[in-house]
Amino acid sequence: MSTSRDSGDSIAFGLFGAGGFAREVMPLVREELMDRGRGDRRATIELFFVEPEPHVAELNGYQVISDSAFMRILGARRQFNVAIGDSRVRERVVRQCLDNGLEPVSLKSPRATIYEGNAIGEGAILCANTIITSNTTIGRFFHLNLFSYVAHDCVVGDYVTFAPNVHCNGNVHVHDHAYVGTGAIIKQGTPAKPLVIGKGAVVGMGAVVTKDVAPDTTVVGNPARPLVHH
Ligand SMILES: CC(C)(COP(=O)(O)OP(=O)(O)OC[C@H]1O[C@@H](n2cnc3c(N)ncnc32)[C@H](O)[C@@H]1OP(=O)(O)O)[C@@H](O)C(=O)NCCC(=O)NCCS
Repeated sequence: MSTSRDSGDSIAFGLFGAGGFAREVMPLVREELMDRGRGDRRATIELFFVEPEPHVAELNGYQVISDSAFMRILGARRQFNVAIGDSRVRERVVRQCLDNGLEPVSLKSPRATIYEGNAIGEGAILCANTIITSNTTIGRFFHLNLFSYVAHDCVVGDYVTFAPNVHCNGNVHVHDHAYVGTGAIIKQGTPAKPLVIGKGAVVGMGAVVTKDVAPDTTVVGNPARPLVHH
């Protein structure tokens, strides 16, 4: 898929990942880079899905190419984001991209809302109908999936993933690599005592989190408790 304009720089945008989430994110890339005319309007922009070993040549009208093929593209500004839910894989891919001189681009749906006083790290993906309210600090390569919100004074680490419809209330601290499942509700903390979701913790879909979650622990249920495998 390419859009040619008169002349000027060309941009090759690689969306790493070719799974369901990546297919949901590609329209945001279109909106961010093309439809809203961001950057040089004269640029030629090509969008690619990028995955280690492509099984198909095309998805939804976009070429699918390998990491190595994307890294070899010459004569274009190479930009990227990573639509891979697994945060450890996401971090590895980001490092590989940065080491190869690619430029990260954050993606925000026109139907995502950011209020005031927020500091959001590079590479965020903010899907449709998401809201980041006020005075939050958010790390790198955050995924905020459909209908989720992050409320006032939250602090979110790097490579954090919020599935759809997460309600993260005020003064919650979510550490690096935490994953919050669909429909989870997280109770507000206070400035003096934020509610903490530990590093690498997993909050199951539908959980109602009323207390801190320890690092690398999975919690489920209402109220959320550590998951016990039977
Ligand atoms: C919590 C979660 C991570 C556990 O995954 P898992 O370790 O593979 O667990 P299993 O599917 O083996 O389930 C283990 C037990 O927990 C139960 N369980 C799983 N998820 C649960 C949840 N969210 N709430 C309550 N119970 C849950 C299962 O029924 C099972 O119970 P049993 O032992 O009595 O049969 C996963 O179920 C989950 O909620 N993931 C988030 C999914 C999501 O939001 N996806 C969004 C895609 S965009």
